[in-house]
Amino acid sequence: MSEKFKTELNEACPTALSQMIGEKSVVEQVRVALDAAHQDVKKFDHSLLVGPSGCGKTQTAKIIAAEMGADLHELLGQSITCPADFNAVLLAAKDREILFVDECHELDREFQTALFLALDQRKLLLGGSRSGRAIQSVPLSDFTLLLATTDEFGVLSPLAQRMRLILRFQFYSVEELAKILLQRSRALGWPVDAEALHLIGERSRGTPRLALRLLQSCRRCCRAEGESTITMEHLRRACELEQIDSLGLGPTEQGYLEVLAEGTNRLNVIASMLGLPARTLSQVVEPFLLRTGLVVKDDQGRRELTSKGREHLSNHRTNCV
Ligand SMILES: Nc1ncnc2c1ncn2[C@@H]1O[C@H](COP(=O)(O)OP(=O)(O)OP(=O)(O)O)[C@@H](O)[C@H]1O
Ligand SMILES: [Mg+2]
Repeated sequence: MSEKFKTELNEACPTALSQMIGEKSVVEQVRVALDAAHQDVKKFDHSLLVGPSGCGKTQTAKIIAAEMGADLHELLGQSITCPADFNAVLLAAKDREILFVDECHELDREFQTALFLALDQRKLLLGGSRSGRAIQSVPLSDFTLLLATTDEFGVLSPLAQRMRLILRFQFYSVEELAKILLQRSRALGWPVDAEALHLIGERSRGTPRLALRLLQSCRRCCRAEGESTITMEHLRRACELEQIDSLGLGPTEQGYLEVLAEGTNRLNVIASMLGLPARTLSQVVEPFLLRTGLVVKDDQGRRELTSKGREHLSNHRTNCV
């Protein structure tokens, strides 16, 4: 797509490894693996991409495919629900093609097992007693498997162990997020005040996807006023509309802190009070709050607000942005 037609954030994603900001060790591992694959005219190694949501796993899979000049076939773990779907995906994969399974921990155990057996033997066994047909062994192409997950322990260890590279994504610093925002706003031709860029980074919980979403909201507020440069005022308005506070917490996180302030400290009780699955709380809502020291968890799994958490909550109640 030519530069001048780029209007949406996702039309201006980085497409080369050199454009990736942060994640130094992931970038280094991928660079070495790409060099090795090019030297030996081989496919890219099977890899597991692990890390928090919105931190660049899918983007990295696309960059690997682009740098290899290979086709990327993308699917979600939960979209494979029957053996026929699973077999069709593996049989359709061609030599050097990249098969990218996102949320691979959602792939049924039965398919995870079949997957590592297929990788080991480079063949698929079809038929058998359940189908009433004789077992048939069908060779598979020499494709690359990239698995992405936010839940490393939901992936069967024999499958994880067969991945030659483990790429671990981390949360980003405010400076890295500001660089990502600058890169994206330049690619889209959206002028932004440097101070606003930094503050968007501070309100994005270490996550590029959240930073880019807030940038988009700021741009909306800016354009609604008929202006072209995103300023602190547009950021203030966007945060007000989206109920994002000074640490980037939204209504769910704020509600969580309120429930803890009332003295509730058991995960299941907090989850039912907020109307959310306990797993969502522990895997999506809590990591940032624990990491930033707003909340602590004791050996019995009881959650408690820290003094920093109390202070943040009372500032938020008085300022509301
Ligand atoms: N290092 C980076 N440099 C530039 N942009 C980035 C970087 N990491 C992520 N992004 C951007 O952030 C957004 C979210 O990234 P991505 O979709 O790859 O996350 P993910 O880890 O796959 O999330 P999920 O687990 O929810 O699938 C995308 O627009 C992507 O281009
Ligand atoms: Mg993804």
